[in-house]
Amino acid sequence: MKISNEDYMDSEYQKDEGPPKAESTLYKERFRPQFHFSPKKNWMNDPNGLVYYQGRYHCYFQYNPSGDQWGNIQWGHATSVDGIHWKEEQVALKDETCMAFSGTTAILPKDYPAIGGTKGDLLAAYTSFEHHYPEGELMTIAQHQSLALSKDGGMSFAPLEQNPVLDIRSTEFRDPKIFYQPERDRWMMLVVYADLHQVGFFTSTDLIDWQEVSRFGPAGNIDCVWECPDLFYLPLEDSETGKWVLTVSAGHPQKGFLGMQYFIGEFDGDRFNADEAKLPHYLDYGKDFYAGICFVHNPKEEGVLMMGWIGNHLYSRLTPTSPWRGALSVPRRLKLKVLNNRVQLCSEPHYSGIASLVNSTLWNKQTIRLNNGALDPGIRGKCLFISIDFERKGAEECGLKLLKNKEHSTTVGLHFGDQELFVDRRNSGSIEIHKDFASRDTCLLPYTKGIHRLEILLDNSVLEVFYNRGERVFTHLVFGPEEADGIRIYAKKGEILIHQAQIQQLSKIWSS
Ligand code: FRU
Repeated sequence: MKISNEDYMDSEYQKDEGPPKAESTLYKERFRPQFHFSPKKNWMNDPNGLVYYQGRYHCYFQYNPSGDQWGNIQWGHATSVDGIHWKEEQVALKDETCMAFSGTTAILPKDYPAIGGTKGDLLAAYTSFEHHYPEGELMTIAQHQSLALSKDGGMSFAPLEQNPVLDIRSTEFRDPKIFYQPERDRWMMLVVYADLHQVGFFTSTDLIDWQEVSRFGPAGNIDCVWECPDLFYLPLEDSETGKWVLTVSAGHPQKGFLGMQYFIGEFDGDRFNADEAKLPHYLDYGKDFYAGICFVHNPKEEGVLMMGWIGNHLYSRLTPTSPWRGALSVPRRLKLKVLNNRVQLCSEPHYSGIASLVNSTLWNKQTIRLNNGALDPGIRGKCLFISIDFERKGAEECGLKLLKNKEHSTTVGLHFGDQELFVDRRNSGSIEIHKDFASRDTCLLPYTKGIHRLEILLDNSVLEVFYNRGERVFTHLVFGPEEADGIRIYAKKGEILIHQAQIQQLSKIWSS
């Protein structure tokens, strides 16, 4: 990424914005997500250090406090009591010598006198990005791993004097995932060798001295650099056993784009071995889900919850939102299921969180037959949860048109002929922001028979689509015309049976 010194300063829009924005317009801007987190103003990208700590969920994130473009990166911060309603806090981690790139957090299980750490402190591991600006252009000197401690409930972190704790003088070495291994009384840190498409596994007993014990990769999709690794154990649905899952942000099914892939396998405490390392498997088939990581230390019954950045480095700097840029997905519960004889990672929407956002049920119908035509439920809206069960009765295609006016709409569809699920934003509205923004993304339907459930979270400019409880997922940014808020349900070339359909109005998470 080539970025000049000025690029990360305020855009023209912000320089000319005049008197400070009246509080009353905050969070009401055109395109502002109402139930997905976004910062009040300025640039954000990856979620960092997701943790449940001292009774609250903490979400840190890559943030530029001085502008609406990437740069000057520190850890922004938001807290939440339920993991759904977020309150933005002050910047939590700033490194005076480097940018603070992505990383993770963990709670200290005991005292670590050498670093001034006391049992219960929150530890952050991040990439300290050492850089300079010869001739005004940002250049990397090195990416190394650093630690910081919080002794005030996660509100602020102090970088260690001993930083960096892991430095191989590489310019492509980042995004530490840190965790404690109680059975060995030691720490593990996963770091990507980004351009080698590898994850290094490093261990330490004192948090200062780190040794590499194994490496995973290259594997799966190696079209793009690897970033933001995560590793977790998941039970296999309807089974006594479980598997380890390694996720990395990397390539996308459509070459040239960014997405997330996962590997399922075994982790013996030192080394991760994938059951299948050749074929890539993707968490999300949309264009705008990246850098997802999971909460740590959250209540057991919640399972493994991931949040990702809704954006894409390819065009996120150009999105027509102001005065902020970037948002996070709703937490997704990750599950392992056997589908078509293969273990697959599924991402369910956070059902109880969504239920807590429901304002009213606008439409609730059972058993509708639709033959080669479109149905207008008579509902308009841009902050909705839609759930609909389709069964094919001869139709070649069916689905929904959202954010619709006379000329524009975004389509979420099932094409039975091609056996695919798709999201088409080619006619969604402002697609000119980048030559590759207009897109129709697809994935193979795991089945063509039976009931196909679509659950859709629509939030002004954010669209999350979950197929059959997260067996397939699409996340997209969409910038529709202001008045485009209609909905149609359609069937093409034949009939569909809709077993149930529900449209619910979701409320905003912002208190101001
Ligand atoms: C992923 C990423 C990370 C890096 C951070 C910088 O989006 O490129 O690899 O740490 O963003 O903001």
